[in-house]
Amino acid sequence: MDIETLRSEWDELNREYTELETCNRRYIELLEQLYQHQQKCFNEIKHQRYRMNQITASMRQFKGPVGGEEKEKIDDLQKMSLKRKAQLHEIEQSLPAKSGRYLQIILGDVNVSILNRNDKVRYKDDYEKFKLILNVIGLIMAFFNLIFNYRALELAFIFLLVWYYCTLTIRESILKVNGSRIKGWWRAHHFISTVAAGVLLVWPQGEHWQLFRLQFMYFNVYISIVQYLQFGYQKGLLYRLKALGERHNMDITIEGFHSWMWRGLSFLLPFLFIGYAFQAYNAWTLFKLAYYPPDAPWHVSVMCGLFLLLFCGNIATTMWVVPEKIRERAKERYRLQSMGKSMKLSKEMKNSASDLDISGNSQTATVIAPPLVASTAAETSTSTATEKKAN
Ligand code: COA
Repeated sequence: MDIETLRSEWDELNREYTELETCNRRYIELLEQLYQHQQKCFNEIKHQRYRMNQITASMRQFKGPVGGEEKEKIDDLQKMSLKRKAQLHEIEQSLPAKSGRYLQIILGDVNVSILNRNDKVRYKDDYEKFKLILNVIGLIMAFFNLIFNYRALELAFIFLLVWYYCTLTIRESILKVNGSRIKGWWRAHHFISTVAAGVLLVWPQGEHWQLFRLQFMYFNVYISIVQYLQFGYQKGLLYRLKALGERHNMDITIEGFHSWMWRGLSFLLPFLFIGYAFQAYNAWTLFKLAYYPPDAPWHVSVMCGLFLLLFCGNIATTMWVVPEKIRERAKERYRLQSMGKSMKLSKEMKNSASDLDISGNSQTATVIAPPLVASTAAETSTSTATEKKAN
């Protein structure tokens, strides 16, 4: 290659670099616009909540007996207020959220927000798969520990439990930042389980441990099976949630979601309650071991307290979840509607964006907008129609 050819190649590379610079400038401009839009959305959400609180406070004056027409209007306002709350929550899902204290300590000041509903569902899916894989490994290890009594194998299994529960607490905190409605107890449950596994790790191998060991391994085998069933239930819900964003008639999928959820729950609950009874039985065995044989190490009473705490928290939360689901039916329906619409929209946007040239053309934004607006309007009208039918 002669020097002239090299020179002309360099010139061509220069031209490409200028294009790259233009593209990068456009990207930075868009980032700046994105930030401004985010701030505007935050302010508007705040405004909506403020006005809604005012309206709700004013509605309290109609507490006494009211006429038929007035009552209908109040019911309507209450329904719309519930719907708006779900819509605002859904809009918040596309905005960045601050990490909690726990994540900030572990990860530092980093943004863990996922700004797209479909990606959030994908992350949740990944979390469920992670639990499944670790449960299968845990089941195999617990099973081997039932057959062989080797300290190294035992420690490897307990160390896996420490790492597993610790990782769960981090993943669940990320899910929480991204709008998951996971109950505080389930997160606390995994913190307590991390502590319990830590205590087991330092429990010296003596008579007391040997007396409890087999029962503990059977318990782990049972819990792994129950967690496999839980995985089936959560996976089924996620699958139906994804379908929400794909079907034309969302009402059918919401009905499908609910009927599957109730069937799944009635299948799962007996297994969960047997698991809780097992936890209570563990606490009882450890309580007896704390007195006999004598000279029990402190680990026995601590583990007894932790199992008792897990039993009480689990049973109370599970018994609270079911009636809550019945009470909050309307709220849940609006939540699913808003979520389905948002998944549909982001899918449509993705499709329109891939059909266009995104090389920095300022027309991009305006070309994407019309189908979006059109579909929002169309969905609003169909959802109002179906809601009227449902009511
Ligand atoms: N661990 C992690 N996340 C959980 C959870 C758990 N145990 N239970 C519920 N969630 C999540 C749900 O996936 C949902 O997430 P999302 O908002 O991101 O969609 C959110 O919390 C709200 O769930 P909710 O509607 O309250 O309950 P559900 O129908 O999803 O599940 C149960 C209800 C009872 C089946 C579920 O809570 C459960 O399996 N509990 C038992 C856990 C247990 O006892 N483990 C020990 C076994 S002995």
